[in-house]
Parts: sequence; structure tokens; C-alpha cells
Amino acid sequence: MAYTILIVAGDGIGPEVMGEVRRVIDWLGAHRGFDAEVSEDLVGGCSYDQHGVPATDAMIEKAKAADAILLGAVGGPKWTATSYDKRPEAGLLRLRKDLELFANLRPAICFAPLVDASSLKRELVEGLDLLFVRELTGGVYFGEPRGIEVLADGSRRGVNTQVYTTEEIRRVARIAFELAGKRQGKVTSAEKSNVMESGLLWREEVTEVHKDFPEIKLDHMLADNCAMQLVRAPKQFDVIVTDNLFGDILSDEAAMLTGSLGMLPSASLGAADASGRRAALYEPIHGSAPDIAGKGVANPIASILSLAMALRYSFDRGADADLVEQAVEQVLTDGIRTGDIMQPGKTQVGSKGMGDAILAAMAVLAGK
Ligand code: NAD
Ligand code: IPM
Ligand code: MN
Repeated sequence: MAYTILIVAGDGIGPEVMGEVRRVIDWLGAHRGFDAEVSEDLVGGCSYDQHGVPATDAMIEKAKAADAILLGAVGGPKWTATSYDKRPEAGLLRLRKDLELFANLRPAICFAPLVDASSLKRELVEGLDLLFVRELTGGVYFGEPRGIEVLADGSRRGVNTQVYTTEEIRRVARIAFELAGKRQGKVTSAEKSNVMESGLLWREEVTEVHKDFPEIKLDHMLADNCAMQLVRAPKQFDVIVTDNLFGDILSDEAAMLTGSLGMLPSASLGAADASGRRAALYEPIHGSAPDIAGKGVANPIASILSLAMALRYSFDRGADADLVEQAVEQVLTDGIRTGDIMQPGKTQVGSKGMGDAILAAMAVLAGK
């Protein structure tokens, strides 16, 4: 039976990078027997413009029914005056929350041909392979109370609340330990237990879950130190498990270790049901990049690598995921670059040129 994929390309460079993803899906259909029924819908600013909301109930229902959702990016300057509940970002947050996609996997891998594209020294990033497990449906992103209130003297107060429960922490910690078991067997948990009760609870609950994973090494690190260690000696890390906000910030920081924000994919997973099926959304970690949107120059690799994660986690097609990842590496080795990872002596292409090169490399690697 065909898998169902919902593509929500979103705003800015979203449609540009997802156009290339669509071509890879079609190629896999034509040459590798990947049987997928793809439909498209709106999320973010484009949905707000058409429907008055950044995520419609109908889109959410389609997303719930799909085997995987592939998202481009949302947001942009056009909607900064819109209220928070109607902003493009709220559409993405609703998808995450309504589908309970609590575990956000963000691998940061430095491809060998890009070691010199990183802003860090070669020896620091060469061979880097770390994985963030970011909690995605709790914390300060969703905590109540929240809002801006006007005080008696006319001044204002902005409020957001950081809140975590035992189970929210435990379920994401379990995922981190399980994944570490398939990697180097090491988890670093990052929080601010020195100043925040929610951070202390985080540390205690992660320690509790660790009892079920005695073969995994667990370190606790304060999040500010973690930010520093990531640029001092990033290869000390294997899996970093952290909350929603710290995970957002630390993973953007780690993106630069790999050369560009345009390189990092992600998978957002829900709990497994009785049949082992998980709700899943795949997206690049970058945003809608308004500064380059509409120019056809955005790097589609993060989105294409997100598709590879979907092939692996949602479609049980590890060989196709390997093929896509190997093609990306081959293209980089061949010196093909989008502007964000351009280096002297290399060949600069746009989004479509990068898609062409990846498809050509897939064909060669697969002998098609
Ligand atoms: P951004 O990630 O959009 O861009 C940051 C910088 O990285 C820009 O200079 C941009 O040109 C560059 N960049 C990002 N992706 C790139 C790619 N694929 N190829 C080449 N260069 C790339 O972050 P921002 O500018 O802070 O945010 C812009 C908008 O995107 C905001 O509305 C924000 O809320 C939204 N956003 C959305 C997501 C998402 O949809 N998941 C993620 C982050 C930001
Ligand atoms: C991300 C983005 C989102 C976040 C925004 C757009 C809601 O920055 O996916 O990293 O903060 O989680
Ligand atoms: Mn982010």
C-alpha cells in the first residue's frame, strides 16, 4: 500500500527547497519503487493569507492521517505585525503540539568536503557527528501564563512560563538514551538546574530514566557551558538532550559547525502506537530566509536530508536514505556548492542546480 506524504512548503524559501525534495521523491518513485501518495497544503503565512489562520483544521486532519509530513519553513517580515496566535510560526507550533511531536532529532554531521566551510578550525569539526534530542511540545514555548499585560502606570509586562512535568521529561529522555545506544553510547543532558526549578526537575528525571539504561554514559551540563563547549570541543558530544528553548538555540549554534544552517535536517517524532507507527514531521532546522527568498539560491540540502530521515524513520527504507545521503556527500565532494557553503575554486549553483546535481549523483550511485 502506498505511503502518504503531506508536503507543507510554507513561506519564503520553503517552496524553493521543497520543490527539490519533490523531485527526489518522484525519482525514488520512478527508479526505486518508492510508492508514495503525495499531497500538498498550506502552513504559515501563506495559510494566513488565504484562510486567516496559519494552520487550518483541515490541514491538521490531513497531517494526522499522513505517514509523514514534510515541511519547508514558515514566517517572514510580512507577518511580524500579526498577533502571536495568527503568526506563521503558530501554524508550525500547532502542528507540533496537535500531533504531540515531542522528540525533535537534529543531527549535526560535518560532511568531509565541508570541513573548511565551517567557521571553526578543521581539526575541531572533522568527523563531527552529534545528535540533538530537543523536547518540542513543552517548556517556555507552551507554558501558561503567557502574554503582555498593561500595568496600572501604563507600562507593560511580558510573561512566558517555563514548565515541565515528569512525563514530558522522561519520554524525551528515553528517546535520547535509546538513540545513544545505537551510536557512541553517551548522553549529555543540558539545563539550567543552578537557577531554574524546571531545570532541576529535568536533571533529576533524566537521572531517574538513566537507571533503565545502565550501559549509556550520562553527563549533566549547564546549558550555557554546553553552548561554550560546542564551539570549544564539539566532538566530546554524542547525544545532547535538552529542553525546547535551549535545543532551539544550541542546534542553530551547532549548524555552523557543519558549515551552514542550510545543511541541517530534523525529524520530529511522536509516541509509537501499538503497531510501532509514530506521527512524524520532517523539516530543515533553518527558517524562511527572507533575505534570499525568491532568488532560487537557497540550499535545499537540509530539506533533502530531512527526506532521507523520513525514508529511514517513517518508511523503513534505509537503503534509499543511504542513497540520498551518499549522493549529497558525492555532490559536495565534486565541488558543487550553493552560496551559503561556497568556497574558493568550487562551482556555485542555485537550488535547482543543487537538486539536479543530487539527482544525477543518485542515478550514478544507483546504477540507473
Ligand atoms: P533563517 O534560518 O530563516 O535565516 C538565517 C540566515 O541563514 C539567513 O541569512 C538565511 O539566508 C540563511 N539561511 C537559512 N537557510 C538557508 C538555506 N537553506 N540556504 C542558504 N542560506 C540559508 O532565520 P531568521 O532569519 O532568523 O528567521 C526568518 C524567519 O523564519 C522568521 O520568521 C522565523 O520565525 C522563521 N523561522 C522558521 C523556522 C521553521 O519554519 N522551522 C525556523 C527558523 C526560523
Ligand atoms: C525552529 C524554529 C521554530 C522554533 C520557530 C519558527 C517556531 O526556530 O524550528 O527551530 O523556535 O522552534
Ligand atoms: Mn530555530
